[in-house]
Amino acid sequence: RRLTAGAVLAAGLLALLSGCGSRTDSRRIVRIGHNQSVNHPTHLALTAFQEMIGERLGDRFRVEVYPSELLGSQTDMVQLTQTGAMDFCVASNAILETFSKDYELFNLPYLFQSTEAYHGAMEDEKVTGPVFSATRQAGFTAVAWLDAGTRNFYTVKKPVERPEDLRGLKIRVQQSPTNIEMMRLLGGSATPMGFGDVYTALQSGVIDGAENNEMALTDNGHGDVCRYYSYDMHQMVPDLLIGNYGFLESLTEEERAVFEEGFEELERVQQEEWGKAVEAAREKAEKEQKVTFLYPDREPFAAAVLPLHEMVLERNPALRPLYERIRKYNEMYASGQ
Ligand code: GCU
Repeated sequence: RRLTAGAVLAAGLLALLSGCGSRTDSRRIVRIGHNQSVNHPTHLALTAFQEMIGERLGDRFRVEVYPSELLGSQTDMVQLTQTGAMDFCVASNAILETFSKDYELFNLPYLFQSTEAYHGAMEDEKVTGPVFSATRQAGFTAVAWLDAGTRNFYTVKKPVERPEDLRGLKIRVQQSPTNIEMMRLLGGSATPMGFGDVYTALQSGVIDGAENNEMALTDNGHGDVCRYYSYDMHQMVPDLLIGNYGFLESLTEEERAVFEEGFEELERVQQEEWGKAVEAAREKAEKEQKVTFLYPDREPFAAAVLPLHEMVLERNPALRPLYERIRKYNEMYASGQ
């Protein structure tokens, strides 16, 4: 896999930052990058992780957290984590399917029937383990999952109340073949691009809308440009903290145990903050940005995209047992939402 221009630039920046190595004094600098603002639950949780490693292993490691795409777009950061130019980054599960197709599982639309089923499955190592370790050969593994809520369509002008309303609309999707296929099945025109480019694309009319959780409206300003947000709830795609495999393997058993505790703390803080952040975002979008929230019937959306499940499972039968296990969580928590 060749590095993109962005990744090469960011690698250069990293080399400058560190004087071509990752140690100052005797401490190993551990760099973590993400694409959200410093107010976002992901950043707050990474800060808690940073503090914990500082307290427990501060004589050996110094964790640095780089928000807001400072080290590049998500795709750039994944490539830098692969090569070890940085140690960790947060990437949406959606973009990881180009590194291993096993990640397609969590990109399936309407995979989870409720938030409880989603959380149950993501906490179950029998579901996540085989997927998270599938990129070992590619140089990284996922070490923690972060809630990124529910993805819904939002548009500049035209309200989306039925799948037919998406026809002829250019909708930004993440750079993921599954998402492109999902848009095709829904009848919209998929325009893949990185998250950081979406605001300008909406403003300049290059796209008619996008799809994301409520935080994109407020924290990323998309609600200043888009008037309608439709709760069709097509996906719950987790964000994943991925770590360079070589780095993880270089830790002593004792260090690794502390990092593992740190990953758990990260998940705990992020989930605690997530609920509050979404509530606040919804309120701000409605009251200050004057976004109109719509609650369409989800059935026609689901019916249009459900064939994707069998398509993916047929292509990759190894996912079937994991898929079946997720169905058990759906049965257990069907009425959650
Ligand atoms: C969410 C998610 C990010 C992702 C973004 C996107 O904000 O948390 O990880 O990059 O969606 O749509 O690209």
